[in-house]
Amino acid sequence: MKKLLIHLECDAQASVFDQVTAYDAGVDHVLAYGGVQLDQVTNLVYGAMFTRGGEGLRNTAIFIGGTNVPIAEKLMKKVQDTFFGDVRVSVMFDANGSNTTAAALVNKIAYKRDLKGKKALVLAGTGPVGIRSAILLAKEGCEVFLSSRQLERAKEVVRHIQINYGVEVIPVQIEGEKDVAKILKKGINIAACCGAPGAQMLDLATWSDAPSLEIIADINAVYPLGVEGMKVTDNGREREGKIFYGAISIGNLKMKVHRAAVKTLFENNNLVLDFDSIYELAKKLEA
Ligand SMILES: NC(=O)c1ccc[n+]([C@@H]2O[C@H](COP(=O)([O-])OP(=O)(O)OC[C@H]3O[C@@H](n4cnc5c(N)ncnc54)[C@H](OP(=O)(O)O)[C@@H]3O)[C@@H](O)[C@H]2O)c1
Repeated sequence: MKKLLIHLECDAQASVFDQVTAYDAGVDHVLAYGGVQLDQVTNLVYGAMFTRGGEGLRNTAIFIGGTNVPIAEKLMKKVQDTFFGDVRVSVMFDANGSNTTAAALVNKIAYKRDLKGKKALVLAGTGPVGIRSAILLAKEGCEVFLSSRQLERAKEVVRHIQINYGVEVIPVQIEGEKDVAKILKKGINIAACCGAPGAQMLDLATWSDAPSLEIIADINAVYPLGVEGMKVTDNGREREGKIFYGAISIGNLKMKVHRAAVKTLFENNNLVLDFDSIYELAKKLEA
């Protein structure tokens, strides 16, 4: 029986990136649907549920992608609400690369390290990758601070994290370097930059003047990078006593995580691969 991956997303054109990655992960065929509306999900999912039955169900899986993460989250919920009993197929959520990127970022930081009791600052943590990274770092035992340019926005995201994941994160406002320096003085050990492409979050003078800072990671691959003095290829490189991880080295791990997750989908018919289970898979890989 061929391994079929049904790719659903709300963007008009289904992501080429996700389809290529699916084939590289060993999928035999991708059935890609772009422009998917919420009310079309049930019928699409029925097509996966009612065709192969029993043991055969594990050879069909669903991937939820798309650049609009909140809409993709609604598609994900609708897919899961459509299943009943054992009549289901495995599902993976990775809209805009959010889950696999957060898993790779946090695994780079946590690999072979004990993060319990460390203080982590997720800079520009209000986007999909930042939110997921903050939760994973908190689950690793860090005290997590999450920044936004607007305090209200940081508070809103922190409330969302508390209500939906039961995880405590501290909201902070960072508008410029002065604010970063002030927060770093709280004894921050880890800075994870999750800002939009081309947004510099941390300058060289500020990070080099923060003695508590041990690890700096950045997932923005578009110049200027999120951290001044960082190289995208940094992979544990030391500068002034601090360890650096850049967007390309994190991105390379992200690709491995993505492929491993797609492969895993076909091991059973009832898997739900969301940010936490994808992180568990990432932890099995060498970072
Ligand atoms: N390396 C990889 O493999 C990979 C994969 C996926 C994504 N990425 C990268 O990961 C980063 C995060 O992705 P995402 O989708 O979570 O990001 P996003 O939602 O586009 O942006 C994250 C946050 O950045 C802040 N921001 C936006 N413009 C800014 C500006 N001009 N100056 C300062 N802050 C600004 C916003 O926070 P506030 O408005 O709350 O301040 C926003 O919530 C992006 O750089 C993306 O390209 C990398």
